[in-house]
Amino acid sequence: MSNEDPRKLYWNESYYRYWKSRVDEAGVGSSKIIEGDANTEDDEVYRNIFSQYGFNPGRVLEIGCAWGRMFPLYLEHGLRLSAVDISTAMVEAARKNWSGRDGVEGISESPAESLPFDDGAFDNLSCIATFDATFQNVALTEFLRVTRPGARIYFTGKHDLYHPDDNAALDAEIGARRKNHPNFFTDTGRMLALLREHGHRIDALLCFPRRGDFAKASFVTEPPEFFYEYMVVLTRGERSGPLSGFSSAHSRTFLGTEGSRGAR
Ligand SMILES: C[S@@+](CC[C@H](N)C(=O)[O-])C[C@H]1O[C@@H](n2cnc3c(N)ncnc32)[C@H](O)[C@@H]1O
Repeated sequence: MSNEDPRKLYWNESYYRYWKSRVDEAGVGSSKIIEGDANTEDDEVYRNIFSQYGFNPGRVLEIGCAWGRMFPLYLEHGLRLSAVDISTAMVEAARKNWSGRDGVEGISESPAESLPFDDGAFDNLSCIATFDATFQNVALTEFLRVTRPGARIYFTGKHDLYHPDDNAALDAEIGARRKNHPNFFTDTGRMLALLREHGHRIDALLCFPRRGDFAKASFVTEPPEFFYEYMVVLTRGERSGPLSGFSSAHSRTFLGTEGSRGAR
């Protein structure tokens, strides 16, 4: 994909400004970048998951790194870190904060769907609070391409069927559409079935029932009918190849409630 990718404008400008103002509110250096935002608030959730389902030694690639808020979580495991983000502004900020530091191999401007790395280059890959903004089957195909057999892959996303009375989730979905924030919902069952069919192993599926439960680390591991967010930990199998589609721009919950009232 070229620099003309129309999504860049959003991530370079309005989202960057929004996030910067939230960071300024929270105080630079705080991990609570967006107070109350389940996707970005609490590193402890990730720290626990990374220690329970450990990294392979070697290299890790972070997708959607922003300005490197999560880098310490990888570097403290002694990993060699590469990172990408679609946003020029975010990459500049990450480089300013992190280039030349021990363990940091490179920070590149790139969309998740077309990664500038060789096949099998990484032992681990992490995509946190970003997968829902990508063209998911294309991005996941790339994650599998650039990792080696046996690699650990961690990613979070939003399930396409959340509780109809989860008003915070519904408001977030409607708000994202109004702002033109790229937002995709996963048919999680279909995605997991595809991954298994392709020979990859699901090591963990964490389902966070309602919006806000991620920050509270409140999850179940047996997928219920309704849940809002998920985190997947998988081990890459021997082969990789293109995955067919499993996500859409509206959740089924939205289509069944607001959609039917004409709020689209
Ligand atoms: C919500 S932030 C999360 C950042 C970081 N992972 C964290 O948890 O602090 C999402 C980041 O993903 C980036 N992003 C969005 N779509 C992307 C894509 N298709 N490819 C690569 N990066 C993307 C945005 O520029 C933004 O920096």
